[in-house]
Amino acid sequence: MDASQRITALEDVPAESTVLFRVTDGSDGEQEAILVATENGTGGDGIDGETDEDRLACWLNYCQHLTHIKIDKGSGASMRNGELVCANHGAYFDAGSGECTYGPCEGAYLTDLEVTVHDGTVYLTDDDYEYVGAGPVDDDDDLSSSSNVKI
Ligand code: FES
Repeated sequence: MDASQRITALEDVPAESTVLFRVTDGSDGEQEAILVATENGTGGDGIDGETDEDRLACWLNYCQHLTHIKIDKGSGASMRNGELVCANHGAYFDAGSGECTYGPCEGAYLTDLEVTVHDGTVYLTDDDYEYVGAGPVDDDDDLSSSSNVKI
């Protein structure tokens, strides 16, 4: 595994929130991504035959309602009953499939990123993105992280 692509320890992926980090697709600027434990979580032995990767999902942190708007408020998206909740207009996304199950973009899917678990560590292994660092993108764009957005 490429150590530069390390996201976090598997055991540090929270059950009620997400791990927020930055990626680049090689073009100008950075984008945000969120790593999330799916319904079965990352603790315990999981279901027979299930891999560590089956218990995780990774998405770009942008809503499918207004695609320049981040799902979270800057510290990772909140979770409710296995679903990610967009902090702006309350859309729900299934944490495992990325499908919007409720809200203005119902039926749309989040953009997925590939991750791999090796020796208890989660790595970004997506051909289209490289890991940049932990936490949110540091920019002056308050529009997507802290302001109320009008539909
Ligand atoms: S921006 Fe996510 S529901 Fe409107």
